[in-house]
Amino acid sequence: MVEETWFGVLAEYMARQQAGLGEEVAIMTYDDVEYSERFDYNDNSKQQAPGKETKRVDGRHFLGTYGLSADEIDSLLNLAEYYCRVNNDSASLPLEVLRGKMLANLFFEPSTRTRLSFARAAVNLGGEVVELESKMSSLVKGESVLDTALTLQAMGVDALVVRHAAAGVPAFLAHSLSIPIINAGDGAHEHPTQALLDLLTIRQEFGRLQGLTALLLGDIRHSRVARSNLYAMRTCGLRVRLAGPPTLVPEEMTRLGAELAPDVDGALREADVVYVLRIQHERQQAGMLPSLAEYRSFYGIDARRQFLLSDKAVIMHPGPINIGVELTAEVYASARSRVLRQVSNGVAVRMAVLHHLLSGPRN
Ligand code: CP
Repeated sequence: MVEETWFGVLAEYMARQQAGLGEEVAIMTYDDVEYSERFDYNDNSKQQAPGKETKRVDGRHFLGTYGLSADEIDSLLNLAEYYCRVNNDSASLPLEVLRGKMLANLFFEPSTRTRLSFARAAVNLGGEVVELESKMSSLVKGESVLDTALTLQAMGVDALVVRHAAAGVPAFLAHSLSIPIINAGDGAHEHPTQALLDLLTIRQEFGRLQGLTALLLGDIRHSRVARSNLYAMRTCGLRVRLAGPPTLVPEEMTRLGAELAPDVDGALREADVVYVLRIQHERQQAGMLPSLAEYRSFYGIDARRQFLLSDKAVIMHPGPINIGVELTAEVYASARSRVLRQVSNGVAVRMAVLHHLLSGPRN
């Protein structure tokens, strides 16, 4: 029964609160107990606490994990956890949380997971999605990204999900638009919802985040996923180690709280989470990577390296994977791989972010 499933989740939250394990819900309009009383999927008006103001991450936007507090991350993960369970019961979907709201996907770089999971998240919450096909839009006639975004806002779109090859584009739009901007990946800067879904996956696996060791392996230099994860992981109390070709692992990252791990095999033995990054052909500069064969030999996760891991260690990758370079097909399909769990969690995390930014009345 749907009600039993929801009730079970809510009862668990209430038990956590009573046991002193509940968190201060700093960025939501409700706490966990209130949530059980207020959330009515058939009545949108009950999803906001009367008289309470929604306090949003970064004001109205979701631009990065840099600067998010542990409480803010924890609250978003708790809501995402809730939506994981709701999503398992497809008969309960769509919900009413975003009824009457429309999201626009503005992707100026290719994407499968992020774009489609934002769309799925919006639909699951009862909202609608429009997709800007940049190659078929007036961008090809010379219209700017800003004018494109302002045009969508003028049409009554409620939020923009933006991916762009240039770092800072979502932040730039956030300064000029009044509707929420969600960063779906900007250059090598940030990919915050990816980091949240990764943390959710790790928390589900280990029941905690504090004290775990994550090894980020591969092309750190060009990776927005690495940066968003580094900020969020450090905030949540993980030890973060970095390994990969020295040309792709900037030493400056240690100033952000990471440790360098030149001995890859030793670092694999100590890791709880092996987070393998994609070799980004599109962002490689000449000379940074001698050859894929050399990369595979020194850093690729194959059966031998997998054997080095502790019993409980898991392997993650944001996707898309260069199979046979970063991971062998066997490792990808192995019991340690959490890659498809990450994808599933991406829908729930994006539901949590959309709920957080859009569930109230429009400003
Ligand atoms: N992880 C990730 O951002 O994948 P996509 O490029 O497919 O969205």
